[in-house]
Amino acid sequence: CGIVGYIGERNATPIVLNGLKRLEYRGYDSAGIAVLQNGSIEIRRDAGKLSKLASLVESQPLEGNIGIGHTRWATHGEPSARNAHPHMGNSRQVVVVHNGIVENFLELREELMEEGVNFNSDTDTEVIVHLIERFLSAGTSLEEATRQALRHLKGAHGVVVMSSLEPDKIIAARIGNAGGVVVGFGEKEMFVASDIPAILDHTRRMIFLDSHQMAVVTRENVRVMTLDGKPVQPQEHLISWDPVAAEKGEYRHFMQKEIHEQVRSLTDTLAGRVDFDEGQIRLPQLNLTPDLARRIQKIIITACGTAAHAGMVGKVLIERIARIPVEVDIASEFRYRDPIVDQNTVVLAISQSGETADTLAAMDEGRKRGAVLWSIVNAIGSQAMRIADGYISMQTGPEIGVASTKAFTAPLVDLYMLAVLLADLRGVLDSTRRKQLVSDLRLIPDLVGRCLDRENEIIPVAREMKYIRNMLYLGRGINMPIAYEGALKLKEISYIHAEAYPAGEMKHGPIALVDRDMPVLAIAPQDPWYEKMISQIEQAKTRGGSVIVVATEGDTRVPELADHVFWVPPTPWLLSPVVTVIPLQLFAYHIASLRGLDVDQPRNLAKSVTVE
Ligand code: G6P
Repeated sequence: CGIVGYIGERNATPIVLNGLKRLEYRGYDSAGIAVLQNGSIEIRRDAGKLSKLASLVESQPLEGNIGIGHTRWATHGEPSARNAHPHMGNSRQVVVVHNGIVENFLELREELMEEGVNFNSDTDTEVIVHLIERFLSAGTSLEEATRQALRHLKGAHGVVVMSSLEPDKIIAARIGNAGGVVVGFGEKEMFVASDIPAILDHTRRMIFLDSHQMAVVTRENVRVMTLDGKPVQPQEHLISWDPVAAEKGEYRHFMQKEIHEQVRSLTDTLAGRVDFDEGQIRLPQLNLTPDLARRIQKIIITACGTAAHAGMVGKVLIERIARIPVEVDIASEFRYRDPIVDQNTVVLAISQSGETADTLAAMDEGRKRGAVLWSIVNAIGSQAMRIADGYISMQTGPEIGVASTKAFTAPLVDLYMLAVLLADLRGVLDSTRRKQLVSDLRLIPDLVGRCLDRENEIIPVAREMKYIRNMLYLGRGINMPIAYEGALKLKEISYIHAEAYPAGEMKHGPIALVDRDMPVLAIAPQDPWYEKMISQIEQAKTRGGSVIVVATEGDTRVPELADHVFWVPPTPWLLSPVVTVIPLQLFAYHIASLRGLDVDQPRNLAKSVTVE
């Protein structure tokens, strides 16, 4: 879900709506806005896309200098107007928007109903506003009433509150990892949001709330304190993202734009980190000392979705280059398995948003068990960045398309740099090899650009395949995770069932599925597994399957076997996943777009999943 709030001298309505638009990617089954208009709270909300809310506001305008809004991704209660946020209390004096799940909501609702409170929705959020009203009616201030209400909630929350009783403030609070709370500074106006892009058109000066902190935001300023009332001096950040980067520009979809941005985002990924003259890698924010590098006995990479696939490539890179054992653990599995972690273990989280609840919970678990905590994160100032002992920032700029693309290739390069740095500090890399590995990085943006130049060769294949029902993706070794990522891209945005398998496993089951109706996509660049892949492609071919192969330019064997070839330029094999994934991103994108689907906002998915 996404939150935006405004307090100032301008009309809050367009500012809040525009901010919500920028956050639509976080969840979009319903949306709403509340504005303080002539001393009373007015709400507009609706199920469906934000454009529906915008036309509702057009026909029933709202005007006032304070407002809060929300885009919702349903957890409790179906997506509908009555379940959309904001939720107002029965006194009509308090209104709340909320990210997260009130875990004890049934208990609280029962308790409130016994006190005679009427409920107007099926959401868990509604208990918050009634609790605040309960404390307000006892004569406490909005600030105190909110604080007391929050103390009753179990679970993780981002909450923003506004009241006609105290029309000079907005209150925002954060408990745990249900997404961030950002406060932005303007001239005689202030902004509140769950994510930076929501308010980036207006300000770059921002503070971030930590867990169990609350902000009282007025036109002029903000006061931050813990939920126990202790004052906090927040650190101000100057955000350098370019708001233009969050626009679609010449592209039909954000996803297409972001695929094409990878030349730039990978250039930015290297910038300031790679010293090509000395053959050195610098990752200062990781706080990696030679001592620590030598002490590490195991690295556990934990992440969800696309980020977990990047982690699978990271395992091969770190084990090969730095010779440290690496496990990759899906974040939602890691924490409940009683993992074996000690102070010589690094738990490395990878997350585009830095706010994925499962990933943050896995980090907490690592922390509890005494591990060193690292993260690779895109969203500046996000929780996964702040709670880590050290981090690598992806430097790709905001990613809007729900299906992750540029935030997949950036961490691949980050993991490669990390592997080289670890190897160097542990003394397992001679300087010739180190210099070679570092200088190979220089090629990457150009090689990715050359894959993108071949987009026109992929479109006809997408056109031919757009009505397929199933697809099998195969890869081996360092490109096995790319099979998983390619299949995930297709599933996410085109709703075609796609399955990925380590190619060597095909003979142990999935080969039974291969026939004319089950095309196979094999990833077979020039890497150490090439010969093995060729024999697996032959096996698929003899079973009548139609085969698409990702292969290296100049390969003469693949064209004899394949029905279609997606060509990639020759690339040092440790970096080959960065190029082999590009045609698969384009393939999935064009299939979905030819099918006329909502590429940037696929059904049932959210960009950042802040619930467990
Ligand atoms: C959601 C998105 C995926 C993403 C995953 C992890 O499921 O739809 O595209 O890979 O979350 O997100 P993160 O922000 O932690 O990388």
